[in-house]
Amino acid sequence: MSSQSPEPARRVTTRTLLAMKEAGERIVCLTAYDALFARILDESGVDVVLVGDSVGQVVCGFDSTIPVTLEAMIHHGAAVRRGVRRALLVIDMPFLTFHVSPEETLRNAGRVLRETGAEGVKLEGGGEAVLPHVRKLVGAGIPVMGHVGLTPQSVHALGGYRVQGRDPANAERIVAEAQALADAGAFAVVLELVPRAVAARVTETIAVPTIGIGAGPEVDGQVLVLPDMLGLNEAFEPRFLRRFGRLAEAAREAVSAYAEAVRGGEYPADEHSFT
Ligand code: KIV
Repeated sequence: MSSQSPEPARRVTTRTLLAMKEAGERIVCLTAYDALFARILDESGVDVVLVGDSVGQVVCGFDSTIPVTLEAMIHHGAAVRRGVRRALLVIDMPFLTFHVSPEETLRNAGRVLRETGAEGVKLEGGGEAVLPHVRKLVGAGIPVMGHVGLTPQSVHALGGYRVQGRDPANAERIVAEAQALADAGAFAVVLELVPRAVAARVTETIAVPTIGIGAGPEVDGQVLVLPDMLGLNEAFEPRFLRRFGRLAEAAREAVSAYAEAVRGGEYPADEHSFT
């Protein structure tokens, strides 16, 4: 028997994702915000781990992603890096860190890559306000994931967290934005809260993988926010979400059992004590 640790599985790269699209293999993506869950995702064979700015809502309790700062993304991104060995690690650029000038965007994204060790960044939006920034990053060798449809950083402009692209003009705009992002060099595009027919059209049209959330099954991969799919964030119940676990319930049961054991004097017992 060899004493060496097993060969680590091959790392996922942006080229792996493209090859998966071409081979019709679905891409599995989830968000993570700390090393503990990142390790579980990586060990479970998730292909892409996204440190989403959803951290602001699901972990920090803000009403939107707007208060999330670059420092916060770097802090969580570096923690996630310590748990991820195989998956591709992508970090969200938060509100207003990729709008002021392409030079500032490059500095900010450069910090994200350098200070976290991530392999790519995600930018919301596919219009003219964002495309020059995507080109600047891609030109500097920074892989960019696009994000169209519902872009939560624009929640106030969009009038709420609503399905986008229901009417033909908006559907056309979403297809055009995804195409423009692919032309600008994005390696994948997230489609959030769009009708499945629109997502299917984008997926057929663009050469790079589409990753859907609330976009139906005709996409190249799926992403969900980890605490939502684990059943940790019970108040959030959108139509597109399936809960694959009941962790809030399990946590409440464990905490109640602990409280009972402490109050009843059963914990700590002899076996937990040092003589
Ligand atoms: O912030 C986030 O978690 C995201 C995903 C929902 C795609 O952008």
